[in-house]
Amino acid sequence: MKHFISTENITKEQLEKLFELANKIKADPKKYAEALKGKIVATLFFEPSTRTRMSFESAILRLGADLISTENARENASSTKGESLEDTIKVVSGYADTIVMRHFEDDSAKRAGAVSFVPVINAGAGGAEHPTQALLDVFTLRTKKKSLDGLSVAIMGDLKYGRTAHSFIKLLSLYKNITVFGYSVKGLELGEEYITFLKKRGVKYIPVSSFDLLPRDVDAIYQTRIQKERFGFEGLDTTLVDFGKFCIDKSALKSLSKDTLIMHPLPRDGEIDPAVDTDPRCVYFEQAQNGVYTRMALLLTMVNN
Ligand code: CP
Repeated sequence: MKHFISTENITKEQLEKLFELANKIKADPKKYAEALKGKIVATLFFEPSTRTRMSFESAILRLGADLISTENARENASSTKGESLEDTIKVVSGYADTIVMRHFEDDSAKRAGAVSFVPVINAGAGGAEHPTQALLDVFTLRTKKKSLDGLSVAIMGDLKYGRTAHSFIKLLSLYKNITVFGYSVKGLELGEEYITFLKKRGVKYIPVSSFDLLPRDVDAIYQTRIQKERFGFEGLDTTLVDFGKFCIDKSALKSLSKDTLIMHPLPRDGEIDPAVDTDPRCVYFEQAQNGVYTRMALLLTMVNN
């Protein structure tokens, strides 16, 4: 892997190797404390982030690498002076061994990868993809389920702009006999390009119009936040936001199987009631923690490449 731009191009073999490494790191993180000593990783975040940025920075430091970063690149980087993304990346790739970038444009990571002299890791690109989130999501599922083959998952919320859901289902498509249910409201449905992709990979995609129509024994529900910040770009009717919100609360959990995991990339904004956080089926904080190990595994693989 030269760059990590999308979950579309990774092979199952590469993915399983990464998971194996992430498991080893999780079991004994100290063993990797100097694994990237002497290397420099740049983090460039043109959009806000808590988990992705801090877990990447934690991963970089835990591997013994050095970090260069610009806080709030959208305001503090030279793009405010009119510099193109391409020029910024060409320059920064002369300062670091790998670039981790989050950007508000869908094609930003691809554009960065096309001009960078060093590996680029997509830490979230517009409403398109968030591949490292998918790594930690599928890694978490893998630690909870005997096998990923044959799984049924439901993606819920903003399926149009939800980049984490896009990368998640693409990555899951590497496994056999996957069924994906999609629950959203009109205007926020999963895009045709993702449905076509799933079909090509042999994944069954079933859209449903209400939470009650989801099978009660689905293996995992992947709830997402309505991405209000993206609506301005296409003028979507914002009244959909409230209509589109479905909160997973105690009564929703009660209706589900004892084995149905509740996942969320976080941050949440009302779509999961904090009162259910202690239910063992709710694994979103564990997902966030796994972000450190999976990102350490990815960095180790890519920087050493
Ligand atoms: N899940 C996720 O991408 O969170 P942040 O926006 O806080 O990085």
